[in-house]
Amino acid sequence: MAKRVTKAVIPAAGLGTRFLPATKAMPKEMLPVVDKPAIQYVVEEAVDAGLHDVLMVTGRNKNALENHFDRATELEASLVQKGDTDRLEKVNYSTDLADMHYVRQGDPKGLGHAVLRAKMHVGDEAFAVLLGDDIIDSRDTLLDRMLEVQQEKNATVVALLEVDPSQIHLYGAAAVETTDADDVVRVTGLVEKPDREHAPSNYAIIGRYVLRPEVFEVLERTEPGKGGEIQLTDALETLAADESIAGGVYGVVFRGRRYDTGDRLDYIKAIVQLAVDRADLGPELRPWLREFAAGLDDAPASHEIVDEMTTTPADSLASPRN
Ligand code: UTP
Repeated sequence: MAKRVTKAVIPAAGLGTRFLPATKAMPKEMLPVVDKPAIQYVVEEAVDAGLHDVLMVTGRNKNALENHFDRATELEASLVQKGDTDRLEKVNYSTDLADMHYVRQGDPKGLGHAVLRAKMHVGDEAFAVLLGDDIIDSRDTLLDRMLEVQQEKNATVVALLEVDPSQIHLYGAAAVETTDADDVVRVTGLVEKPDREHAPSNYAIIGRYVLRPEVFEVLERTEPGKGGEIQLTDALETLAADESIAGGVYGVVFRGRRYDTGDRLDYIKAIVQLAVDRADLGPELRPWLREFAAGLDDAPASHEIVDEMTTTPADSLASPRN
């Protein structure tokens, strides 16, 4: 049995271009999902799985991320003065959540490059990587199971989600073999964002990994791949192809709820899905949503109005109407 993992690495240094202009001066990981920034859900998930040592890989606009997990003395003093203990508790909660550490990525040269920045902090032990824009619903378990499998196999463990074949080109796809456990597969190969015809399966890699320290040496040797970036998937492919490096790669098949908050449509869905189940918002939101959805059938063309409102001058040049 391998030693139990204690450290989590959270890459949050991407440019977040799909969310511009919202992410011009703010990391996408700070976008609120209901009333918490996406990154807080991710840190909470790490802590819930027993990973209290959290290293965040930050890029430009790192202050917002660091400040969120730090004291906010003026705000705290004001809430104390008002006797607003509920909100004070919420503010203090993120401060005391984990033992937070930060490292800069410099240039965002890809997820693999971001993970490599964790080498000094992690040292010679296995560690978890949680993508800062990927939320796993806290009512479903994934990371605990991945840590369990990592300990048992002493290998690399990735999280896999079965997606519609039409969506596989958006992910890294895994070639897999079954194992004795219904929710665990052995990964024999990986392809980053394959065409539907070339995808080895519908198993998409999502933003949770448990890696062995050997991954750092592999990343150091990994040449820039798709998009000119150093891809973590390429390093995982090397680990899957040669079990002698770090015991091979296993996948835990996740069948729960996951929200990709780096994608605009998924982000909107995440807010709605999480808010309808909240005791403070759900009772009012649910009937409103039903009424709103019923009204959509009567107004099929209203998106054209919104398009007009949100089209920037650059968009109009790129796709002239009529
Ligand atoms: P994405 O590919 O979704 O992030 O990376 P992005 O490049 O910021 O997004 P778009 O496509 O431009 O909108 C997945 C995760 O890896 C981190 C991101 O912050 C995100 O959490 N990442 C990505 C880094 O930390 N560094 C990088 O160089 C790239």
